[in-house]
Amino acid sequence: MTPTAVTPASIEQAADLLHRGKLVAIPTETVYGLGADASNPEAVAKIFQAKGRPADHPLIVHLAYASQMKDWAEEVPDSALRLASAFWPGPLTMILRKKTSVPAVVTGGQETVALRVPDNPVALWLLRVFGGGIAAPSANRFGRISPTTAQHVAEELGDAVDCILDGGPCTVGVESTIIDLTDQQPTILRPGRITRSQLEEVLQREVALKSQHKIRAPGMLASHYAPHTPAYLCATATLLELLEEKSEQGKQVGVLVFSESLNLACQHLLRLPQVAEDYEAALYGALRQLDKLGLDSILVEQPPETEEWMAVNDRLGKATI
Ligand code: TXA
Ligand code: MG
Repeated sequence: MTPTAVTPASIEQAADLLHRGKLVAIPTETVYGLGADASNPEAVAKIFQAKGRPADHPLIVHLAYASQMKDWAEEVPDSALRLASAFWPGPLTMILRKKTSVPAVVTGGQETVALRVPDNPVALWLLRVFGGGIAAPSANRFGRISPTTAQHVAEELGDAVDCILDGGPCTVGVESTIIDLTDQQPTILRPGRITRSQLEEVLQREVALKSQHKIRAPGMLASHYAPHTPAYLCATATLLELLEEKSEQGKQVGVLVFSESLNLACQHLLRLPQVAEDYEAALYGALRQLDKLGLDSILVEQPPETEEWMAVNDRLGKATI
């Protein structure tokens, strides 16, 4: 499946495919999504087939406007309205109690639903023309690296999808922050570009971080977002030792470097940006690039561990052994 250029005609065609129960890959500001009409259970079931995703893992419903929240959520708390006006369109997903009309296949049988208004002109255009909610997980095979270009989707899902809208590279590059608003205390289930402090500032209250014990989202599984090549996250000194050791053993090693000053004699070296947001935007593409080479291993230099690096560290933790 070759990606389709975005034109008024291709948007109309994509909306029509969705209405007919087909799958459309859509660009968002975070990662590409594999979309289906969220009100059509048969269409949504095709997403799980295409991804090889277990059926009990719920999907995010994408909307054009925050005012559509009430069509999917039983109750829209004040906290959701405040977060929507602060961060939507944007990389924030909210978990709310679902309306009984929301198909069980969308929510993985849970009583809650995940909602998001993405900040991407192509996604918003399609959502407006389509009119309803689009259920869309990241457009990758289950457990693998999320796609940040239309080409990644084409390589990974091929003909399992009926149309791939090419919106260019994703600007954010890591999946949305997920906040659960169904409990007493708001809880972050997955860190992303919108940070805990930003959420606390808008809500004027403490926001918890997910408990490690309660797996409610597949992004919370210990291994996810992973390349095929074994990848290791290590401090600079350890990375240097491992690189030397593996090179002596004749192993082919790829390295993702953070430090500006680190100079290595390594054929497959990619240097990622020093700014957290730029690092996020480049990370998945870099992992894919190294993964394609069929190397013995990938060594990733540990970036800083401050709050702004939380999403990066979360994804690196899951992509590595
Ligand atoms: O940035 C994103 O969020 C991208 C783009 C396409 O919007 N989507 C994405 O979808 O990352 P996915 O399916 O790969 O990850 C969504 C996460 C999953 O971990 C899922 O389990 C969780 O959201 N989720 C969805 N509904 C939920 C619910 N009712 N309760 C808890 N977690 C939920
Ligand atoms: Mg995903």
